[in-house]
Amino acid sequence: MTDPSERKTYEEISTRRAAGGDPTYAAPKGPGKAYSVEQALALASGGVKGRSFENGKAMYNSVGCAACHRFDGAGGGVGPDLSGVASRYTLRDLMENIIEPSKVISDQYGSEEVLLADGSTLVGRAYVENGKLVVTADPRNPEEFTAVALDQVKNRKPYPVSLMPAGMINPLNQDELLDLVAYLQSGGNPKHKAFAK
Ligand code: HEC
Repeated sequence: MTDPSERKTYEEISTRRAAGGDPTYAAPKGPGKAYSVEQALALASGGVKGRSFENGKAMYNSVGCAACHRFDGAGGGVGPDLSGVASRYTLRDLMENIIEPSKVISDQYGSEEVLLADGSTLVGRAYVENGKLVVTADPRNPEEFTAVALDQVKNRKPYPVSLMPAGMINPLNQDELLDLVAYLQSGGNPKHKAFAK
């Protein structure tokens, strides 16, 4: 979590997003909507095919997935590596993980609620370092943390809300969402069958 390379990755990504003009970071055209899992699945019911690799990649980067996830050899380490999601998840599970991130939180990547002796609580990623409990509220900003003496820690328990925000795909229109799904399913391979025209 204090890994400086992770911070650097995030800064690079933010800078590229802000700079504009980079086609692999093109912003969604929209109009978006608040997708439910059922709506997203209905869109893909005819199969995910004839999609655009370039646009899928641009959507992935510009809505901010890359800030937290490694995929095809690049990106941040806040969440799991997504390179193999196609083999791990059905389309339904993939959409559920994206649209309702708090429904199932993988324990390795969750955050904790920490109760302190003075009655206050902290929420975030928590780990012990040099005899202190270090809590980072936003793991994309590992330099902003709270360190408390271990004897001040009364209780630690898993926090039921994912670090991954809900609604991240909502700026996308239907085609943009399907391009993103195809990109995830391809593992970053532009020759994947979903892109065949
Ligand atoms: C702020 C960081 C953050 C952002 C941004 C983010 N995620 Fe996540 N994501 C996580 C974390 C942390 C987890 C693991 C905890 C959980 O299961 O909720 C996760 C889990 C997932 C999973 C399940 C992976 C697995 O192996 O179980 C998928 C799929 C996923 N994210 C896709 C995406 C996509 C697609 C985007 C962009 C639209 C995105 N995420 C944006 C942090 C993020």
